[in-house]
Amino acid sequence: MSAMDVPAVLRVNGKEYAVLRLLGKGKGGYTWLAERDGARYALKQIHHEPCDYYQFGDKLAAELRDHQRLSALRVPIPALLDVDRAAERLLKELIPGETIYQLVLRDALEPWHLEQVRSLSGALRAQGLNLDWFPTNFMCRDGTLYYVDYECNGYMDQWSFEEWGVRYWSRTPDFDAYAKEHGDL
Ligand SMILES: Nc1ncnc2c1ncn2[C@@H]1O[C@H](COP(=O)(O)OP(=O)(O)O)[C@@H](O)[C@H]1O
Ligand SMILES: [Mg+2]
Repeated sequence: MSAMDVPAVLRVNGKEYAVLRLLGKGKGGYTWLAERDGARYALKQIHHEPCDYYQFGDKLAAELRDHQRLSALRVPIPALLDVDRAAERLLKELIPGETIYQLVLRDALEPWHLEQVRSLSGALRAQGLNLDWFPTNFMCRDGTLYYVDYECNGYMDQWSFEEWGVRYWSRTPDFDAYAKEHGDL
């Protein structure tokens, strides 16, 4: 599937969801804005496109395991509402609004965003874990920073927020290069 083909409807365990638009595409899947009975959701379809910097096993199982880990640690993440294992689809609570990436793009990041991500980073390091600190994975609601991707990995300095992620939480040359490559600048 390419990002251009927007499915009209996706089923999760037999229930139909109308697909409104693509929210985002990452190395793990396509996440669609979907609607059913007047309520909106984030519906993630796992994809199997190759990725040159990353090795995958069973992606759906990994998402579920990571979701469990992060909810046990009380990391603010969107609720997992349903899982269709055969179709490899996750139905997630929708966090409305912009990602941190979009806030950085329009110079709207505020000090509390950085305070919360640093405190999350410290708490997870103490548990031996890293999130994927790239700012497309973070959104805010009611003064709380949410990690909307469930992926987490064993801690490595090289991929920590302080050594790697923070480079994309402001308009650095690395950030601008990424944004240009993705047509956002
Ligand atoms: N619960 C959610 N609410 C709103 N937007 C979301 C949600 N989950 C994901 N998104 C959007 O979809 C994008 C991709 O989702 P993500 O779970 O990070 O997929 P991937 O594993 O492919 O990186 C995110 O960058 C974000 O823009
Ligand atoms: Mg992501």
